[in-house]
Amino acid sequence: MEDYTLPLVEGECRERNVYPIFDRMMNREDKEQLLKQHSVLVWLTGLSGSGKSTLAIALERELHQRGFLCRILDGDNIRSGINNNLGFSATDRIENIRRIAEVGKLFIESGIITIAAFISPNDYIRQLVSSIIGKENFLEVYLSTSLEECEKRDVKGLYAKARRGEIKDFTGISAPFEAPVNPDLAIDTSVLSVEEAVYQLLDLILLKIKK
Ligand code: ADX
Repeated sequence: MEDYTLPLVEGECRERNVYPIFDRMMNREDKEQLLKQHSVLVWLTGLSGSGKSTLAIALERELHQRGFLCRILDGDNIRSGINNNLGFSATDRIENIRRIAEVGKLFIESGIITIAAFISPNDYIRQLVSSIIGKENFLEVYLSTSLEECEKRDVKGLYAKARRGEIKDFTGISAPFEAPVNPDLAIDTSVLSVEEAVYQLLDLILLKIKK
């Protein structure tokens, strides 16, 4: 079976009688000029309950106030819509992240700063995002909050359910999470406040997005 994980290259498109028009459309630079910003994908990875969504929301507000146009892509949101046919098997998680990366690319190419919050539990999956988006557009931020702390918070009650065996393949309990080896930034939300964490994120991205 052919692997369509990565975008098709020209020859593969022809074989499938597909004729993309990317080259004739207005491009990313045109959009960035209009918005007066450089786009980037800020990828928040970490366990459920590590603080990804909270930080994504706080960062979006902070950037919005400073005049930047942003878009959040968040696991539970995406899984209620475009990815509502996917579960949590290893292959479904790859397809989940592949589609998100392709959606993220549409936003990046529209000049929009994109903040993605997904468990994305291993290097293979995160590398896939980087390959689809382009590594120069990809900032990997690891929410390193420990499993013990996430389980103690258990905001959604999912860890308790997973421990009772009511959710299978639950990340951190019955499915693996591989920490990123060399993230652009690591944040432990049991040590930093939301405000402190957002300032670290701003330090990382402001210079990259200012035009
Ligand atoms: S990912 O592993 O494919 O990147 P994603 O970020 O989209 O996961 O979705 C994670 C969210 O789905 C969690 O925050 C949680 O609310 C919910 N969820 C439901 N079942 C599981 C499960 N088995 N493992 C992890 N998260 C789950």
